[in-house]
Amino acid sequence: MKEETVILGIDTSCDDTSASVVREGKVILSNVVSSQGAIHSRFGGIVPELASRRHVEVIWPVVEEALKGAGIGLTDLSAVAVTYGPGLIGSLLVGCMFAKAVCFSRGIPLMGVNHLEGHVFASFLLEKAPEFPFLSLVVSGGHTALYQVRGFQDYVELGRTRDDAAGEAYDKVSKMLGLGYPGGPLIDKLAKEGDAGAVDFPRPYLPGSLDFSFSGLKTAVRNFIQENGSALNDPEDEQSTRPRVEDICASFQGAVVDVLVRKTEWAIKKTRIRRLALSGGVAANSELRASMEAMAEERQVELYIPPVQLCTDNAAMIAAAGHFYFREGRFADMKLNPRAHLPLGH
Ligand code: KG4
Ligand code: ZN
Repeated sequence: MKEETVILGIDTSCDDTSASVVREGKVILSNVVSSQGAIHSRFGGIVPELASRRHVEVIWPVVEEALKGAGIGLTDLSAVAVTYGPGLIGSLLVGCMFAKAVCFSRGIPLMGVNHLEGHVFASFLLEKAPEFPFLSLVVSGGHTALYQVRGFQDYVELGRTRDDAAGEAYDKVSKMLGLGYPGGPLIDKLAKEGDAGAVDFPRPYLPGSLDFSFSGLKTAVRNFIQENGSALNDPEDEQSTRPRVEDICASFQGAVVDVLVRKTEWAIKKTRIRRLALSGGVAANSELRASMEAMAEERQVELYIPPVQLCTDNAAMIAAAGHFYFREGRFADMKLNPRAHLPLGH
């Protein structure tokens, strides 16, 4: 019988430093995420140089905490899986160099994982993992894409955003409304108090294509705010005629969710694949989860949505993908270099 794998996953692709220990690609022994939200929030977005500096400061404490949480030491690891792209080059560099140092010093294999592949494999951390083939919608701050996952390393990109990622649109709209960063959770919360029918924002469906486009919607929100203003609901100020921020949030979110759900439905019809996995930071969105569940039920599609902490950036998903690399003996060498652009599938 094969020995069980104990893989250390590391992700420093963007603004979070994460390390996780996963057994057999499935059992999360620890998953530590050190968020930099507070550092970047006053800038309304990520400042790459600040992100890489922070990764340097916290990478070792984060890995130590992950090992401690799993109750193991470096000597117990089978291998290290690290995100080597896509992402911010300075941030990726920190994780890659750290992973190489661990592997070199311990004499254990190194595996370079695509961050998007990590999001796709987050569903393998669920009690019941999807069987191949399945569809995967990855919606995050940097990416929005639909993949046909035929097997490990056998990915077909069905569509992707032509401009902004869905999460990026959330973050930019949040900045316009003066709400802060990251915008997704803030808009998600305020939308619950708003009327989604208040403003009729455009739904960019791009008929005939499985691509996405969110920049026109973002501009429509900007124009609306410039023309009409916006004000957070204030019960003390009954005279205010400015549109409520809550209504703008609900209307914007309604448009994003409608597009994501309808296009996923088109992909299901086109491929006839009845298994769907959702991941990426925007998959934490309460309305997207609910709408996708309703669509999946109607179309009798098996839906796999990881818990919120496995949808947003985390290293457990990198370790989960790493398990497949380990089993297939696909190891990287010390020449592994980070790649800012690294597409998944074609
Ligand atoms: O996957 P992720 O953690 O990092 C990237 O790889 O980009 O995704 C972060 C993105 C941010 O744009 C954030 O605003 C968005 O996910 N996000 C959400 C929610 N939680 C996070 N968007 C909508 N609703 C949410 N609840
Ligand atoms: Zn991500």
